[in-house]
Amino acid sequence: MQLDVISIFPDYLAPLDLSLIGKARRDGLIDLRVHDLRDFTHDRHRTVDDTPYGGGAGMVMKPQPWSEALDHVAAQSDSRPVLIVPGPGGQRFDQATARDLAAQSHLVFACGRYEGIDERVYDYAARDFDVRILSLGDYVLNGGDVAVLAMVEAIARLIPGVIGNADSLVEESHEDGLLEYPVYTKPADWHGRRVPEVLLSGDHAKIAAWRHAQRLTRTAARRPDLLPAAAAMSAGDLEIRL
Ligand code: ADE
Repeated sequence: MQLDVISIFPDYLAPLDLSLIGKARRDGLIDLRVHDLRDFTHDRHRTVDDTPYGGGAGMVMKPQPWSEALDHVAAQSDSRPVLIVPGPGGQRFDQATARDLAAQSHLVFACGRYEGIDERVYDYAARDFDVRILSLGDYVLNGGDVAVLAMVEAIARLIPGVIGNADSLVEESHEDGLLEYPVYTKPADWHGRRVPEVLLSGDHAKIAAWRHAQRLTRTAARRPDLLPAAAAMSAGDLEIRL
């Protein structure tokens, strides 16, 4: 998969050299390129922002550096890439979005800062990209860079080969709409706290039933909003009663 990130703080993306994503890059599963938006400016100060028309607080990202950066990335693509612009005003990025994006061959991330990017850039970009504005959640970050770190990690780990043990993707939180069951490792008794006996029983059917019950209880306690969708996903699973 080809990934391009355009940012005024390329150093923010340095962690994508670490851990499993870093290894996937070295293994050639992910071709990730980070571009400095200021390289597409033409003035001495490498200006990327200006005051908003109509007044108001803060600065707006100028359209010109963005159009040139996007043209540069589009010229290096042999497909029609998806352009993701992270922002609190976007559609919610969730596990289904990550799965959908993991199936694409080329993703481009545009990291906005300040009050946002001049609105005309979205229309300009639609010529060469499928544009998606995506939000991590209902809170405001200082810019899109941290959101891109989270999104790239969520997407890249779904690409076949990135996670060594593909089984670990199956029973995760959000994959089937329920939260994950609790996990334990040795010792069986730690500071007087014992691992649930069923996990020591060796009875795989009993363990599976216990884990499923834990997932339901946990989801009901922490994220009851997820239950209707989880019930729909596992229609026929009589254990989910609403
Ligand atoms: N940029 C600023 N806030 C954001 C959010 N909540 N999600 C994604 N990108 C953002």
